[in-house]
Amino acid sequence: MTFVHVLRSRFSFFWLRADYMKVYIKTFGCQMNEQDSAQMFALLDGQGYERVDEACLADLILFNTCSVREKAAQKIFSELGRVRLLKADNPSVIIGVAGCVAEQEKERLLVRFPFIDLIFGPDHIRHLVNLIEAVKNNRSCKDKQVVQKTGFDLRKDFEFLNVLPAENESPAKAFVTIQKGCDNICSFCIVPFVRGREVSRPHQAIIDEINALVERGVKEVTLLGQNVNSYGLKNPGSVSFAGLLELIAQKTKLKRLRFTTSHPKDVKDDLIDQYVVNPILLPQMHLPVQSGSDRILKLMRRQYTAGDYRSLVENLRRKVPHISFSTDLIVGFPTETDDDYAATLRLMDAVRFDQTFSFVYSPRPYTRAAELEDDVPQEVKALRLKQLLERDTQITRENNQAMLGRIYDVLVEKIDKENEGHPFTGRTPSNRIVHFAGACQAGDIVSVKIVKANPHSLFGEQNAA
Ligand code: SAM
Ligand code: SF4
Ligand code: F3S
Repeated sequence: MTFVHVLRSRFSFFWLRADYMKVYIKTFGCQMNEQDSAQMFALLDGQGYERVDEACLADLILFNTCSVREKAAQKIFSELGRVRLLKADNPSVIIGVAGCVAEQEKERLLVRFPFIDLIFGPDHIRHLVNLIEAVKNNRSCKDKQVVQKTGFDLRKDFEFLNVLPAENESPAKAFVTIQKGCDNICSFCIVPFVRGREVSRPHQAIIDEINALVERGVKEVTLLGQNVNSYGLKNPGSVSFAGLLELIAQKTKLKRLRFTTSHPKDVKDDLIDQYVVNPILLPQMHLPVQSGSDRILKLMRRQYTAGDYRSLVENLRRKVPHISFSTDLIVGFPTETDDDYAATLRLMDAVRFDQTFSFVYSPRPYTRAAELEDDVPQEVKALRLKQLLERDTQITRENNQAMLGRIYDVLVEKIDKENEGHPFTGRTPSNRIVHFAGACQAGDIVSVKIVKANPHSLFGEQNAA
């Protein structure tokens, strides 16, 4: 330990005052971005930064951004438009853009938003504290320049951040990143261009992180990656994804395990078998299908047919009777006809997903699909989306009704004492949220009987038996 470190640990109060900053981070996009923001907070917490809930109270404002659809990117641009006024009022506030729009746009962001101080992509979160220092140092220079760190860290042994995020709203649940980037070439998707090539995190680091989370009281972990099924495939000698699930069950005291997202082309028998033999793996899978039309799936470069997808679901249901499926769907992909769209509706009816996330196609920079004419009229896209949502509501209502009277193991996530009727909220193994009455604590796993089923919510009672 250096003299400076000793001083710092003995007189941390004074150090806090010297470095003290209030930080506001707004997150857009997927669970990976949520996880990245949690890591940023954890890095800054360690340096004595204080979190604030409003941008106007902050010395450092960070937007952790998403560019998966045009609308998502537009949201960031309007947020930046808003903070322009804050910056004009208080030029010392640091404005940073992180995440996928930062990686996509890089210094081009400065054309519209010249007041941005810091731009950094998802691979550079670990440097956040140094980047902020660089911005501060930069301030004293005459010709101030933006601090920018983008581009991919191409090392095969990319070091995943290993700071445990601070406790969140549900201390019994956590997400653990097992992979970064994506090697697929879905023609509509910008993710590989803003997150880089796929890299799997070493299994021991994953197990260590889960053990540390369990020590803290975490009961359920969701493993995160764009295509978790291909975990380890690129590294000769590495454990496979199924092997990783097995190791987690053997080497940790975790009670419940989930993962997201799965690519249908990479769900193999060893993974299906895990649902049968792994005692902590919950019977649920998010399995994005995108379309029910083989012609569109081909144009999307998804590498499976609607028939392959249905066979996979049937096979899984045969082996794991109560498994629950959710999916992502895109409407209005270039050239999508009424017949293609009807095939998507038929697939929905056949699979009867517990949840669907439906999106209107939007052309993205760098992608192959962006070279095709975006020829489905907006009003047709909007109508198709509306019909998908209606069909989803109808199926969810029927699926929920079928749960009436059944008993599930529920992990208690939240307690709202104001809600006298159903103060507890938790999730069933199939990942359905249930509000219930009972006598338990956050983090308990209790039996709950479903007594009421609305189209989008379930209500229950703790089962005494
Ligand atoms: N890795 C996952 C997979 O293989 O499906 C999903 C990743 S992506 C972040 C989440 C969802 O956004 C996709 O499943 C897709 O439905 C949707 N999406 C991606 N690009 C899109 C685009 N250009 N237009 C509309 N929706 C899009
Ligand atoms: Fe995008 Fe396809 Fe990769 Fe998912 S698998 S992140 S949709 S390229
Ligand atoms: Fe968006 Fe990037 Fe996630 S584009 S969906 S935040 S990987």
